[in-house]
Amino acid sequence: MNTNASTEIQTPLAKGASWLASSLVNSQSFAGFFEPLVQWLVPQWRADRIRSKITTIRHESSDMYSLVIKPGLAFKCFTAGQFIELTVIKDGAWVSRYFSISSSPAYFQKTGLIEVSIRIQENGRITPWLVSALEAGSIVNLTQAQGEFVLPEKSNDLLMIAGGSGITPIRSMLQQLSNTSAALPNHVTLLFYARSADHFLFEKELKAMAADHNWLSIDFINSAEQGFFSEDHLLEYCPDAHQRSLYICGPSPMITAARKELKRLNFNDSHIHYEFFGPEPVDNAQTGSANILFSKSHKQISVTESNNKTLLTLAEEENTSPVSGCRMGVCHQCICQKKSGVVYNQKTQTYSDTGHQEIQLCISVPVGDVVLDL
Ligand SMILES: Cc1cc2nc3c(=O)[nH]c(=O)nc-3n(C[C@H](O)[C@H](O)[C@H](O)COP(=O)(O)OP(=O)(O)OC[C@H]3O[C@@H](n4cnc5c(N)ncnc54)[C@H](O)[C@@H]3O)c2cc1C
Ligand code: FES
Repeated sequence: MNTNASTEIQTPLAKGASWLASSLVNSQSFAGFFEPLVQWLVPQWRADRIRSKITTIRHESSDMYSLVIKPGLAFKCFTAGQFIELTVIKDGAWVSRYFSISSSPAYFQKTGLIEVSIRIQENGRITPWLVSALEAGSIVNLTQAQGEFVLPEKSNDLLMIAGGSGITPIRSMLQQLSNTSAALPNHVTLLFYARSADHFLFEKELKAMAADHNWLSIDFINSAEQGFFSEDHLLEYCPDAHQRSLYICGPSPMITAARKELKRLNFNDSHIHYEFFGPEPVDNAQTGSANILFSKSHKQISVTESNNKTLLTLAEEENTSPVSGCRMGVCHQCICQKKSGVVYNQKTQTYSDTGHQEIQLCISVPVGDVVLDL
């Protein structure tokens, strides 16, 4: 893999001049000031990221692989369930994606390694490319771990529901619970949904874990045969679910459907913790027709209920040059001032105020007329 940010050939003098110019104009921090110079000497160095090395790429199934990574020294430990932002250079540009750490903090403390386990997204820009572009020894950049999808210090019994690649943070939690001498919940039930019998990631390891620990039971549910999460599954696999804290992770449609079902069954929302692995699908019933005015660029468009598009997509279609990053409500790079109008936040499932407010364009859909400072 070509790990250089740029292949353009410059003389040292030209490089120095362009470094000075770009540093003076763009830098917002002391470290950022020197970033272009350091990158010249150490390709892929970023002041705000931790330079880390891939040690192994493990193929888990036809569409999943794990990266075993040795994070740089600046990497602090993490809490089981958290995720990192992984940044690489593709076609000369920095690109970032989010992945939960699928191994445990105990494993990191013992080996200095972390693992992320990645599903190849059909038509995805990065997940199909990474597996062919990286090899043992390749350099990637990481952030510190972040996120609030973590176990409480003192835990009730738990019901965990994982869909497909959503098993990754849950594997980290279960590995950590298996390795800890701290107080364990009395019982943990995991319902693991996958679209076919071949798609249960870490199946062997999870079965061995359940066989070794009587506080853990795992049900592998083939959704093609047994359907998605339902009241019947709860009664069959976890009849005391109302007394437990719930942890749900997986693709957005699965989480949305599970939360709806749990709401119908009168579960206390504050006992439900969840991590979306993608943008939540737009709920058609909650949006209406709307006029969107991009006030800075003096452009206006009309959208109807059938459009189902986020404000980020609409702004891009109008060439208003919005800034974006993750496109799933995590990085906050797409924050924009809404001057007026109501938007629906797909992630929090709430409506905004009518007035002036900061919104995340990538997870907001208009509900009636909206004016954006864009
Ligand atoms: C906090 C967090 C933790 C995550 N942890 C993991 C993890 O441990 N393992 C893992 O495999 N993935 C994880 N993801 C999802 C992962 O970040 C995306 O699948 C990845 O960014 C897709 O990149 P891409 O460039 O291949 O696809 P893109 O080019 O960005 O998208 C291509 C198409 O695929 C769709 N798409 C993208 N991601 C998903 C998805 N997850 N589900 C359904 N459709 C999608 C997009 O809407 C688009 O239509 C996590 C996401 C978040 C927010
Ligand atoms: S692009 Fe990352 S939060 Fe919107």
